[in-house]
Amino acid sequence: MKAIILEGVNQPLKLADVEKPELRAGEVLVKMKAAAFNHRDYWIQKGQYGGLRFPSIQGSDGCGVVDMVADSENNHWIGKDVVINPSLNWGNNPHTQAKDYIILGMAQDGTFAEYVKVQARLLYEKPAHLTAAQAAAIPLAGLTGYRALMTRAAAKPGNKVLITGIGGGVALLCMQFAIALGCDVYVTSGSDEKIAKATSMGAKGGVNYKTENWHKEIQKMSGGFDAIIDSACGEQFEKLVDLCKPAGRIAFYGATLGAFNSGVPAKIFWKQLTICGSTMGNDDEFAAMINLISTHKIIPVVDAVYPMGEAQLAMEKMARGEQFGKIVLSMY
Ligand SMILES: NC(=O)c1ccc[n+]([C@@H]2O[C@H](COP(=O)([O-])OP(=O)(O)OC[C@H]3O[C@@H](n4cnc5c(N)ncnc54)[C@H](OP(=O)(O)O)[C@@H]3O)[C@@H](O)[C@H]2O)c1
Repeated sequence: MKAIILEGVNQPLKLADVEKPELRAGEVLVKMKAAAFNHRDYWIQKGQYGGLRFPSIQGSDGCGVVDMVADSENNHWIGKDVVINPSLNWGNNPHTQAKDYIILGMAQDGTFAEYVKVQARLLYEKPAHLTAAQAAAIPLAGLTGYRALMTRAAAKPGNKVLITGIGGGVALLCMQFAIALGCDVYVTSGSDEKIAKATSMGAKGGVNYKTENWHKEIQKMSGGFDAIIDSACGEQFEKLVDLCKPAGRIAFYGATLGAFNSGVPAKIFWKQLTICGSTMGNDDEFAAMINLISTHKIIPVVDAVYPMGEAQLAMEKMARGEQFGKIVLSMY
């Protein structure tokens, strides 16, 4: 079969012929229609990720059709369009992942291939209103955004919610979930054009984080926030503390700008703030996220679709941060 191979750190993604996976008990073979990039794929290519092994097939997200199953009890999946929960081995504790937790696409071979094998329990039917490319955009970003917003930041209808860096795959789906929930959503971005796109989708307003007084401007616009979802951290993080209303919650799932400074501790305890980290999500959260997408007919934003052979160009586009939404690979 054809697959996109990463042979080592800083190597370009290459189209190659590899062995088709062989199924073991409990597994199914999915013939991929589309796969999507995550920032994780970039960190892996740069060597800035744990547990690396090469050569490898990356890709945590995808949509395809079930082609073969190992066990007859899974025959009902054959021919169905599915998305895959990339959160492998979360385990039994809903609050945190098990020690052997891994994400599809490293260390286990991922979705940047004609075929991927996964445990049948990770399959979910593709929401009927979506194309394969739109559905491929959901899994990792949707799961991360859902847990950060709903579980960790405990957003409620009517809350004022700030989502930073709205051009990102996670941020944008998180905004769509918050709007569906009935929150008033505000955004930041390094691009005025991306802010305009977000407001056209239902955000109440936004500011460019490259401007000096972005935090004052968004405070004036919103009156402060009940919940903030961030993936940048860095020095700007203490501004998020200032932007919280009393009893506000900040959930962060990434650190694109590196180590953070959360500012004056008294501001956090006097305002009774909750600051928490969030990673991926458990199986119940994945199911609830897919249900939310189907119920509200949410359509993930696909920025661009590249043919399989142009995977490296797609990765470079994501590295430049040009995208609004997800970058997708089409398998056929
Ligand atoms: N813990 C987890 O489970 C988990 C899951 C998914 C992702 N992540 C991490 O979260 C981060 C985003 O992932 P992604 O896949 O959504 O990335 P992506 O689609 O490549 O987007 C990159 C993001 O960084 C934002 N950004 C860049 N500079 C920023 C700044 N100064 N202030 C605020 N935002 C800034 C961009 O916003 P604009 O384009 O609007 O400027 C955009 O949202 C990555 O670090 C990734 O590794 C973690």
